[in-house]
Amino acid sequence: MVDGHRRIADRRRFLTFLASSPLLALSASGAWSALVESAQAAESDGPTRALIASTNDALNVFDFELVARQKLPPAHYGYLATGVDDDATLLANRTGFSKIQIRARRLVDVSRIDTSTELFGTTWKTPIVLAPVGSQKAFHADGEMASARAAGGRGHLQILSTGTTTSVENVTSAWRGPIWYQLYPTDTWRITQALVKRAERAGCPVLVLTVDLPFGRNTETEVRFRQSDTRQCASCHQPGWAGYFRRKPMFDGLDLTGVSMAAPGLTWEVVRRLRDITKLKLVLKGIETREDAELAVRHGVDGIIVSNHGGRAQEGGRGTIECLPEVVDGVQGKLPVLIDGGFRRGTDIFKALALGARGICIGRPYIWGLAAFGQAGVDKVLDILTRELVLMMRHAGTTSVGKIDRSFITTSAR
Ligand code: FNR
Repeated sequence: MVDGHRRIADRRRFLTFLASSPLLALSASGAWSALVESAQAAESDGPTRALIASTNDALNVFDFELVARQKLPPAHYGYLATGVDDDATLLANRTGFSKIQIRARRLVDVSRIDTSTELFGTTWKTPIVLAPVGSQKAFHADGEMASARAAGGRGHLQILSTGTTTSVENVTSAWRGPIWYQLYPTDTWRITQALVKRAERAGCPVLVLTVDLPFGRNTETEVRFRQSDTRQCASCHQPGWAGYFRRKPMFDGLDLTGVSMAAPGLTWEVVRRLRDITKLKLVLKGIETREDAELAVRHGVDGIIVSNHGGRAQEGGRGTIECLPEVVDGVQGKLPVLIDGGFRRGTDIFKALALGARGICIGRPYIWGLAAFGQAGVDKVLDILTRELVLMMRHAGTTSVGKIDRSFITTSAR
């Protein structure tokens, strides 16, 4: 009974938090669902949820989202939270996990747990990877440097966005070792080549070509947040691609006359050309189907990241965890498959590992940590997810990531 009262009080507190959001006035639109993750967290966490004052108070990664929401200007939070159209794919990335259940084995000695995973001959301490997220200085003044220090200090692979607000050279030195470079191809081959060569010179062993966003998208949630922001965006953001390039150090020194990031001509031919100009391992990010997985193998691609850009590219409505099995089947063990989209719990990570993923990339959670507390926030988010994964492995009765296979899950209808 007491719990029931507390729960109601907590819901009231959460509604008060929502009421202070510009989104409440916009609830008729898809923008509303951008807050579903917060709502889920508040509902599931029970009565004592409040904004955390320090990383020590965090129980789970959602705690950082509430702080990020409070600290960021509305336009920047909107850029982070947004999906596309009605945010249905954003939501599907989360609900997909609830269609899979874990089959726990008992009476296994789980005193020692090995979370390591191997990718292209390198053994990583953990399968949890930092997905490429552009413009990190929009979330914290330390931006990508803070993320790199946290990831490097803990041995997490980091993938750096073409849209980084810190150079690949500086991020590599903050990580204290090689990172992977994510490539947006642009519409101009000369620029694409220059980006690839710079990543090579910086020591990146792997190029991640993002293939799910070659042209525009409809980020309504972002637009609505921006409309509610009273600051003058134009004082920092000059319009057009020229303004974009000016804020992005990867384009420094290049002749960008007439260049656009929109690349609707992105085809397998570009993949073939990239293969020809670089010896870096080539990973495609944004593959969702068996057919494309098979084509990737045929085109000599080295790896795949199953992704829908965190539900911020096309409104396909399918969670990435639902796409993973067909992609894994499509590559037939010939390439490593990684995944991202909606990973918020160790159990989510466990399920993807069981379905054959070798690496799990996270996007928004580490940016919530960054926005909330800088490097300390990213550190804590990575600690929480690692701790939850290890706990789940122990409960499921498995001692190493390599041993987590499909026998550990079931997809029986609920
Ligand atoms: C992204 N993502 C992304 N992907 C990419 O290939 N290049 C990029 O520059 C960006 N930038 C970016 C900015 C922001 C604010 C977000 C939230 C995401 C997509 C990212 O790599 C990843 O696919 C998703 O973030 C994974 O989903 P979750 O973990 O955010 O749910």
